[in-house]
Amino acid sequence: MSDLMGRRRARALARCVALALLAAVPAVLVLLYLNYDLRSARRTRLAASVTQQAALVRADMQMVLEGARQLGRAIARLPVVQALGPGCRQELRELLAELPPYAGLSVVDSGGRVVCSTDTGDDSTGDASAILAALRAAAAIPPVVVGGFTPGAGALGPTLALGVPFGADDPAGGRAVVVLGLSLDWLGRHLGASLAAAGGQTFVVADATGIVLARRPGRLEAGQSLPAELLPHVGAAQAGVAVLEGADGLERLAGFTRAGPPGGRLFVAVDAPVPDVMSELDRATWHGSLLVGLGALLSMWLAVLAGVRFVRRPTAALLDAARRWSAGDLGARARVPGPPEGSFGRLAAAFNAMAEGLGRQRAELLELNTTLEARVAARTRDLVASRNQLQVEIVEREKTEGELRQAQKLQAVGQLAGGIAHDFNNLLSIVTGALDLLRRRLGPAQAGAAALVENAAQAAERGVRLTAQLLAFARRQRLLPAATDLNKLVGDLPGLVAGMLGRDIAIRTSLAPDLWPALVDPGQLEAALLNLVLNARDAMPGGGTLSIATANVLVPDDVPAGPGVSPGAYVAVRMGDTGTGMAPHVLARVFEPFFTTKPAGSASGLGLSQVHGMALQSGGDVRIDSRPDAGTTVTLLLPRATGALAAPRAAVPRGLRILVADDDGAVRRMTCEILDERGHHPVAAADATQALAILEKDLADTGGSFDVLLADYVMPGMNGVALILMARALQPRMKALLVTGHAEFEGSETLRAEAIMRKPFTIAQLDERLQRMMREAQPEAAPAVAG
Ligand SMILES: Nc1ncnc2c1ncn2[C@@H]1O[C@H](COP(=O)(O)OP(=O)(O)OP(=O)(O)O)[C@@H](O)[C@H]1O
Ligand SMILES: [Mg+2]
Repeated sequence: MSDLMGRRRARALARCVALALLAAVPAVLVLLYLNYDLRSARRTRLAASVTQQAALVRADMQMVLEGARQLGRAIARLPVVQALGPGCRQELRELLAELPPYAGLSVVDSGGRVVCSTDTGDDSTGDASAILAALRAAAAIPPVVVGGFTPGAGALGPTLALGVPFGADDPAGGRAVVVLGLSLDWLGRHLGASLAAAGGQTFVVADATGIVLARRPGRLEAGQSLPAELLPHVGAAQAGVAVLEGADGLERLAGFTRAGPPGGRLFVAVDAPVPDVMSELDRATWHGSLLVGLGALLSMWLAVLAGVRFVRRPTAALLDAARRWSAGDLGARARVPGPPEGSFGRLAAAFNAMAEGLGRQRAELLELNTTLEARVAARTRDLVASRNQLQVEIVEREKTEGELRQAQKLQAVGQLAGGIAHDFNNLLSIVTGALDLLRRRLGPAQAGAAALVENAAQAAERGVRLTAQLLAFARRQRLLPAATDLNKLVGDLPGLVAGMLGRDIAIRTSLAPDLWPALVDPGQLEAALLNLVLNARDAMPGGGTLSIATANVLVPDDVPAGPGVSPGAYVAVRMGDTGTGMAPHVLARVFEPFFTTKPAGSASGLGLSQVHGMALQSGGDVRIDSRPDAGTTVTLLLPRATGALAAPRAAVPRGLRILVADDDGAVRRMTCEILDERGHHPVAAADATQALAILEKDLADTGGSFDVLLADYVMPGMNGVALILMARALQPRMKALLVTGHAEFEGSETLRAEAIMRKPFTIAQLDERLQRMMREAQPEAAPAVAG
């Protein structure tokens, strides 16, 4: 691991160094360019310098030649020389002693003969023939003629012959010449002294053939040939610069020019070494490059330091955090050095926020995962529960539908039975009325006839009960609901039925305290309870227990809709037996009229039909719970009454004046007979018109003497209700009682329940109704007809 890190570091370092060097390259290139530029400039300057020096040497040389010319002229003016006699030698010798630059002096005539010379056997003055040849060749006579190089001998060394022509031309064009042997050693010293000694410069003077005449001490010696590089320039007309290779092998620059009399017979060059100048530059360039390289390295090092401080450390912190996040540690946070508002600070904050978000999501996911099973289980439970609920609801619905069908069936049957019972009623009211009267009129002597009448009356009564039950079942019975104390009714029941039940059956009652009054027709309820008691008795042939209980019941608002009771307050009577119970198919049909399982003749099958019709018509309900061999419980629900309980009975009124209006003659007569029998004073009317006429007449005669109007409902012309309303207008004090076999009839809402009596009625019922009417009238003359 550390090996790997080491290698990585080394690689990074190498990269940095390479980068630094690369960065230094432009600077080095610039330096090299400057070097080259300086080099060129210096070279140009060097060239100018050597050219200038060459010009200086040339000028010196010209002065030497001028000196020679003036000296030659001076010698030529000497009379001995003018004479061209041999006597001039002495003169020349004396003169030469005063002239160190010259090694010898000669005078030569135009024919080339030496007139006199300071030479003593050697050739110090030099060869004059070349001078004479040049003179002859020249178009114009030059002031001084440069001759050739003479090696010389002895201490005088080599010389250069210079000729100064004088005198007139001879016929052949020749002239006498003063020849001066210029000492080349002197010339070398002279020129060298005036040449600046600096810069390692040397000079050379050569003749037209490239023979060295004078030079700064160096490789070359007088008499030698010029270096090969200079030779081509010897004849050049212009001054210039040439490149040489020095004795040390280094390059040199040589500036050259021509010197001497017009036509330039002499070649002058001054040279200087190039490397001495350039090596300085090269050194400076090298040092510069080195410094640039070092500078680049230093900058790079500083950059690396800054990078480590400002980039690598924050990056490493971010990387570390990222590695921990990827390893699953989402709680890790990137902590970068430096200010939080810096780039890395903001980057770290963004990454940290991202990690926090991821952490939150992961926690939620984990939470979801862990609760998933529980939620699935809960959901499954919910589903199972709702499926069960659904099944229950389906069963419930099927049951409700069954009940509805049953109710519809019962309603259809009820309509049929109700219609028949109504017609029967009218017939029976005649029969019972007639029998009633007959029974009262038969004296003790007619015991046989009385027994027959009794039989007929019993049968008729049974018929009345049957039609009453049928009408009750058809809910067409006119109920007379009143606030009734069920505890009292139920409490009286054991005494009433004890005789019917026999000893084997025990009766238990359980009466709820604070029982609400029920709004029910007490007579009908009593009949219903009797029916139930008889059924229980029949179901317990071997004896058992009959329990009767009362209770307050509240049916809450959320009871499902169906053919049951609507929500509200009810008073319940529950009658249970320990008898045979019922099979479901029996239970399903018990409310049907004429449905019985009992032997033919012993039962009509109308008992529960009456109970059912009465309960429903009262705004209540009846429910039966029964299973074979597990007994039966019948619950009657009756609406709670809000008014006060009915008052106890009063004495039967007698001697009332009663107007009987009935279109059925037999019924009318019967009714009048009964009223008469009960000590009242009936007046008969065949229809409403007649009744109204009687009332009007009575009003006129007596001021209104009728106590009660007994009106049949169905009459031709005007019905009973209309008659009652009109009669009430005539005699407001008079009570009215509508007699009808119909449960529903037009105008019923204008009459109070107490003002209606069902057909056929018994004498007892008539008594009871008249009694109630008169009681109400007693405290104040309140009308029985509803306003
Ligand atoms: N408490 C009960 N126990 C067992 N079965 C009963 C009970 N009450 C009624 N039943 C059954 O319901 C049938 C119908 O009863 P319902 O009272 O309507 O007529 P019934 O008693 O047969 O005749 P009726 O009442 O007219 O004399 C009965 O024949 C009987 O089979
Ligand atoms: Mg019965």
